[in-house]
Amino acid sequence: HQPIFPMPYDGNSQSWIITKYDHVKELLKSNSFIKDQSKFLSSTRESDEFNIFQNMMLDVDPPDHTRLRKLVQPYFNPKTIKQLEPRIREISDNLLEEMKQKDTPVDLIDDYAFPLPIIVISELLGVPAEDRDIFRKWSNTIVSASNEMETDFMEDVQAFTTYLTDLFEQRKNHPADDLISHLLKTEEDGEQLTRNELYSMVVLLIIAGHETTVNLIGNTMYALFKHPNQLESLKNDPALIPRAIEEGLRYYSPVDFSTARWAENDLNFHGQIIRRGDLVMASISSANRDEEKFDHPHLFDITRKRNAHVAFGFGIHFCLGAPLARMEGKIALEKLLHAFPKIGLDETSPAPQWRSVFLLRGLDALP
Ligand code: HEM
Repeated sequence: HQPIFPMPYDGNSQSWIITKYDHVKELLKSNSFIKDQSKFLSSTRESDEFNIFQNMMLDVDPPDHTRLRKLVQPYFNPKTIKQLEPRIREISDNLLEEMKQKDTPVDLIDDYAFPLPIIVISELLGVPAEDRDIFRKWSNTIVSASNEMETDFMEDVQAFTTYLTDLFEQRKNHPADDLISHLLKTEEDGEQLTRNELYSMVVLLIIAGHETTVNLIGNTMYALFKHPNQLESLKNDPALIPRAIEEGLRYYSPVDFSTARWAENDLNFHGQIIRRGDLVMASISSANRDEEKFDHPHLFDITRKRNAHVAFGFGIHFCLGAPLARMEGKIALEKLLHAFPKIGLDETSPAPQWRSVFLLRGLDALP
């Protein structure tokens, strides 16, 4: 009813939630062009304090964004990602084997949807996958924090920083064929990557590499459990899996909102005046249920033909990991349905609950 929705922010500035599909695309595209030499929306907010997130490519504009993205793009191209396929299949098989060995009920999040992407991104980066539970804790604190001054948040960020400092030292002494060793070499050359940017890059890849794909696998399976006929169709026709993944991305978008954009100037956005300094966010999950774009948007339909969702964003910050996430999602579902043809929700457990994390949509558990 009010598609450009005002929310109070920090007293001085206003924040806006953009909810229509066309507006969301326009907004996400707008920090990739410069009109009349003045930028309208920026991903950057000035701050004096150093922290390990400040220099993430998600939070910076061109030309820094272009430079940072170029450094890692070759590692995430569809062709490079294709080479990971045998290893992703093997990880998935190993996890399913462990699930079969358990004599207690399994949890699809803890036992499968979480470990799969975190092992993949850890191996790609060159971070010990055995440490995944500690990343999960740090990552959870970071994405759940409502206030960056909270003690838990500050402690976990400090622990994460110390961990990475030690890891960089080890890799410097013993380089390997992994992304961190490559980035360290780039940092040493001194032109393309600063030390702070290196921290931010690794933190972003660890967090974005698993916090999202765990939701893709968990949310899509949850939607399938709630639509048993479609789960049956998928078992009988695994060729439908890529479409089920796209519908999972649209219907329960793993990332609910874009990251923040800040208005650099006053601007008139479809009749609404947005003032310089205001915070603007795109509601990806709302755009993906826009009735002007999708027929029967609230219907989960794995046979949906036109599915131009914006679950991976749009414009210059379009998800770097989209080809990887899609491949992990497809392999995860294919292997799971093959290993457990009678899979279903454990009706004796409490109903699954959504995690209370503002930017992300994912389940706490899926027994
Ligand atoms: C950016 C979603 C998986 C790395 C984004 C954005 C979205 C998104 C919506 C843009 C945010 C914005 O414009 O503010 C997702 C979803 C995923 C997923 C739904 C899984 C289902 C991954 C994976 C990686 C990754 C596996 C692994 C490396 C990134 C990075 C960016 C990004 C580095 C920033 C790109 C830039 O600033 O140019 N993602 N993502 N994502 N994603 Fe993903």
